[in-house]
Amino acid sequence: MNQEKDQEQNRVLNQNQEINRDPKEKQEALRISAELLDFLQASPTAFQAVDQVRKRLTEAGFHELYESLDWNLQPGGLYFVLRNESSILAFRMPEDPSRLHGFQIAASHSDSPAFKIKANPEMTEAGAYTMLNVEKYGGMLMRPWFDRPLSIAGRLLVREGDNGIRTVLVNVDRDLCLIPSLAIHMDREANKGHDLNPQKELLPILGDETAKGHLKEILADAAGVKPGDILGHDLFLYVRGRGSIWGADREYISAGHLDDLQCGFSNLTGFLKACRDGQRNYKDTVPVLAIFDNEEVGSGTKQGADSTFLSDILWRIAGAAGLEGGAFRRALANSFMLSCDNAHAVHPNYMDKADPVNRPLMNHGIVMKYNANQKYTTDGVSAAVFRDLCQREELPLQEFTNRSDMAGGSTLGNISNAHISLNTVDIGLPQLSMHSSYETAGVYDTLDLIRLTHAFFQSRFSDLGGGKFRMEN
Ligand code: CO
Repeated sequence: MNQEKDQEQNRVLNQNQEINRDPKEKQEALRISAELLDFLQASPTAFQAVDQVRKRLTEAGFHELYESLDWNLQPGGLYFVLRNESSILAFRMPEDPSRLHGFQIAASHSDSPAFKIKANPEMTEAGAYTMLNVEKYGGMLMRPWFDRPLSIAGRLLVREGDNGIRTVLVNVDRDLCLIPSLAIHMDREANKGHDLNPQKELLPILGDETAKGHLKEILADAAGVKPGDILGHDLFLYVRGRGSIWGADREYISAGHLDDLQCGFSNLTGFLKACRDGQRNYKDTVPVLAIFDNEEVGSGTKQGADSTFLSDILWRIAGAAGLEGGAFRRALANSFMLSCDNAHAVHPNYMDKADPVNRPLMNHGIVMKYNANQKYTTDGVSAAVFRDLCQREELPLQEFTNRSDMAGGSTLGNISNAHISLNTVDIGLPQLSMHSSYETAGVYDTLDLIRLTHAFFQSRFSDLGGGKFRMEN
């Protein structure tokens, strides 16, 4: 009986892994989690998230390149490129570019499900309210948007001079609107399941009837521009308030946008550390940090993972290194990608929704994701390479599969592989409440992904042919 119980316990604890965290790690986990909360707070939309990444890269000595200009890439140089101000790629040139061996790429996404402000959004209701007309961006849980102070952020396209247009990021950054729920007295069935109609029930109140016509002014004021100069916009609602670290031992972190900025932040932090630790790096590999917009709507935009962004930049790096077509393709065969997007932790109130065996736990390490239909890129090869790397770095590893009777989600790895094909593993950090406006994850897992990517960006993958592979570090 006890043995059976133990077995069940082991199942729940996933892959029988005992995690013994050094107490000193707690301090480090809390420090990095506070830094992550700052990053999330400053990133209400993909535009601000990418701007945060740009600032940190610039502080670390990276130079910004523009796709519309010629590049003069120097050996050992540190660079980054934005596309649409909402996707970003950063890389370090090899010391001897002519010997370029391969690319070590970690990809994640900058966007999150939210409500997008439509054109001509202000509408009067009951003669007394100014409502905002919004639509869903991505597949979100809608309930967490009710009864919370909301604000608006994104970008404005503003007239400059006679023929110019410039991008200005905007964040109103105050409690500005709210979506009130219906009182229980008017819907006694409210707790028994209720189809939500986004056109009818999810429209926020901006103010009373006098607010009509003032949204443009509010935005212009927040952005420091003239209302009449605004020619275009991409604006989203976001939930106000800082995230928090909680739990009996402060082991959990909750905030909006953990999917996927927890991965983006961890990859960035590991990337910057790896680029700083120059002497430990392989001199002939190119570490590449990739953060793509539009994953939540299928990646099919000019800046998404289903675009030419990554391949265009890798080609330009190869061109600067003097690699011709054949040599570039050899380099791709010697490249490896981590497709990073958060994973589902087992939910204590819905144990039946998880696979019987592969059910990740928060604070139990990075999750490797599998799907037989290859919605996740992980296969025997990339799993083996990744497991080997985790073992050498002494990092715990968990595995995720959907229940066989559930479809599950998808992410950017396999979409990117259609454009630039290389050995790829799908990984993520375990979390609850995915696509809620307030998600929950573990404080230690961020630390693990930083350590992992720090090692990965300093490593060197080789396809030796004949089914043999090596990840040196
Ligand atoms: Co995601």
